[in-house]
Amino acid sequence: MYRTHTCGELNLRHAGQTVTLAGWVQRSRDLGGMTFIDLRDRYGITQLAFNMETNADLCSQARKLGREYVVQVVGRVIERSSKNSKIPTGDIEIEVQELCLLNESRTPPFTIEDQSDGGDDLRMRYRYLDIRRNPVRQNLEMRHRMAMLVRNYLSDRDFLEIETPMLIKSTPEGARDFVVPSRMNPGEFYALPQSPQQYKQLLMVAGMDRYFQIVRCFRDEDLRADRQPEFTQIDCEMSFAHQEDVLDMFEGLAKHLFTEMKGLQFDSFPRMTWHDAMRLYGSDKPDIRFGMQFVELNEVVKGKGFGLFDAADLVVGICAKGCAEYSRKQLDALTDFVKRPQVGAGGLVYIKYNLDGSFKSSVDKFYTADDLRRVAACFGAAPGDLMLVLCGPAMRTRVQLCALRLEMAQQMGLRTPDVYAPLWVVDFPLLEWDEETQRYYAMHHPFTAPKPEDEPLLADPTRWGDIRANAYDMVINGVEVGGGSIRIHDRTLQNQMFHTLGFSDEQAYAQFGFLMDAFTYGAPPHAGLAFGFDRLCSLFGGVDTIRDFIAFPKNNSGRDVMSGSPSPISQEQLDELQIRLDKKN
Ligand code: AMO
Repeated sequence: MYRTHTCGELNLRHAGQTVTLAGWVQRSRDLGGMTFIDLRDRYGITQLAFNMETNADLCSQARKLGREYVVQVVGRVIERSSKNSKIPTGDIEIEVQELCLLNESRTPPFTIEDQSDGGDDLRMRYRYLDIRRNPVRQNLEMRHRMAMLVRNYLSDRDFLEIETPMLIKSTPEGARDFVVPSRMNPGEFYALPQSPQQYKQLLMVAGMDRYFQIVRCFRDEDLRADRQPEFTQIDCEMSFAHQEDVLDMFEGLAKHLFTEMKGLQFDSFPRMTWHDAMRLYGSDKPDIRFGMQFVELNEVVKGKGFGLFDAADLVVGICAKGCAEYSRKQLDALTDFVKRPQVGAGGLVYIKYNLDGSFKSSVDKFYTADDLRRVAACFGAAPGDLMLVLCGPAMRTRVQLCALRLEMAQQMGLRTPDVYAPLWVVDFPLLEWDEETQRYYAMHHPFTAPKPEDEPLLADPTRWGDIRANAYDMVINGVEVGGGSIRIHDRTLQNQMFHTLGFSDEQAYAQFGFLMDAFTYGAPPHAGLAFGFDRLCSLFGGVDTIRDFIAFPKNNSGRDVMSGSPSPISQEQLDELQIRLDKKN
């Protein structure tokens, strides 16, 4: 037997027992007469004691062990003279009688400690060593627990976990596909699924009624902290379900996770229309842990001779409570922040409501104290508050103000990771205009149903932008953790939708014919949703980056720096696939 116990379970109750442990040498301390080694495995750390006086041979062997050597020891559990209350095994140590070296280790390139001395790149390159560290290991353990909770919750409610193919047909909608050449069908390609959307709908046509899958998805898009090229969804679909049934079911799942993982209880999640989310927060994923809602000021600021405001489509601002004391330098930094290309505003107007009741603003030339008092009233501002105002084209300005709102909240310490504020954003627009290609795209995907009352607008291209969808997102702390919709189950409506998206009958059939055919064989009304599992994990873990919750993630250029992928392939492989590379590249 390699071990009788793990390194995390022994305590005073085991005193006197002879045990066998196996693990990695975390660190060793040589105190002359005694040598102590911290032995680590997935479960914890146990102190090993070697006594020079009673067993000199063994003690000198122990002194030769380097960091991360793999060893097995047999010894007696004894009470420690100086206890360590910080670890569960801190009351005992092992008086070692036998030591067996199972494997040596090169000196690791960074310390395997909670606070490692290794930078990001180095730790990614040696991810298998990084995972030995507590914080990373604990993240993966948490991910496992969440997956189990999800599986049990859904299975208890009659959802079947069904696997869908990984090599599928490439479709032009959505993000870019990762494609895979087919050797047996030269010149033809599979795509890796961006989501199992069409297959789960086919499973509904197949009568499977309630489906889920914890499934890998692939999207060739620009990467950010909360985006990986391969990521995992909790993908779900239900037949004979209205929007209310879906929201209920998956709000229930989110609440279950909050209770089990965090001990938190929630009332019903608030709901906000997409339109209100954009108007009040400038985002379809508002962070509602704090207020600072947008206040529109066109009515009170126009016509006072300030050209920028007079000419603007929208003048809109936020009120930062208690920030009137911001210095010139801090205000300049905020102006620089909104002028950064990533935000793109032309400038920032501030109005300080001083504690003595006076006003100081960057537009004092144009506005009297009375004018500014009226503005302050719109914000519900009090002495001591700072108002920050942007202007320009409505949607663009809202998005810019959203960035400023989040930055202010960060500076004011309002974005605390252990406070959770979930909500549903509902009634998304069905279609989104794209300036570049001069056409409408499905905002969610082409299978999303319009709201029945907005369906007639499909006949009028000038109104397409006004059509609302039965589509919803679950948002927690400003992160879109999941999204879904009621699907179109009627072939005629689905055809109409494809036409709206600019597909001819032939093109639509070539791309989605199998789904359209399936819909002619009695498709039930159905709806669903998919959670971003990595995002849920990082949110519950209280960090922004999903990489920390993925065992082997890609870096920001989509590379796996550990294995060195992507990489060139041999000419032989290319020939077999009948792929010719352009020499210039
Ligand atoms: P959607 O495209 O909104 O919907 O994706 C669902 C959820 O997946 C997560 N997500 C990502 N997570 C990490 N990295 C990425 N690159 C990434 N892209 C998306 C988000 C998102 O909310 N088939 C539909 C769902 C449905 O209608 O049922 C779909 O894929 O948390």
